[in-house]
Amino acid sequence: MGKIVRFGVSLNSELLEQFDALCEEKSYPNRSEAIRDLIRNVLVQKEQQITGTVIAAVLTLVYDHHVSDLAQRLIEIQHDEHDVILTTMHVHLDHHNCLEVLILKGAGEKINILADKLISTKGVKHGKLTLTTTGRNLV
Ligand code: NI
Repeated sequence: MGKIVRFGVSLNSELLEQFDALCEEKSYPNRSEAIRDLIRNVLVQKEQQITGTVIAAVLTLVYDHHVSDLAQRLIEIQHDEHDVILTTMHVHLDHHNCLEVLILKGAGEKINILADKLISTKGVKHGKLTLTTTGRNLV
């Protein structure tokens, strides 16, 4: 781990006011912590665009299990890509609707393809993929 380095930043005063308001809104204890998070976010976004990079992700799916064969089709797609699925959780939201959460880890391209397949399956009401990082390359 590198040593802590202090550096100065020149900024338009109005931009700084907006940044300070954002820091307060987001409950950052100081500007340094907010800037560190901004830098990490950009680094994570860049990492996700590099082909072959192993990333972590969470996929949520909401669907009606009464739609014919839907649950079975979703399971088959998941079995085809079982190597990137770390775990799944299924919650019965009500009589009709299910919430499924998949925790994923693998090459970004593979994760995106799997998510697209599941989200676009007929009968899935809502799907959202949230990409993050394994954290290995971050300080
Ligand atoms: Ni269910």
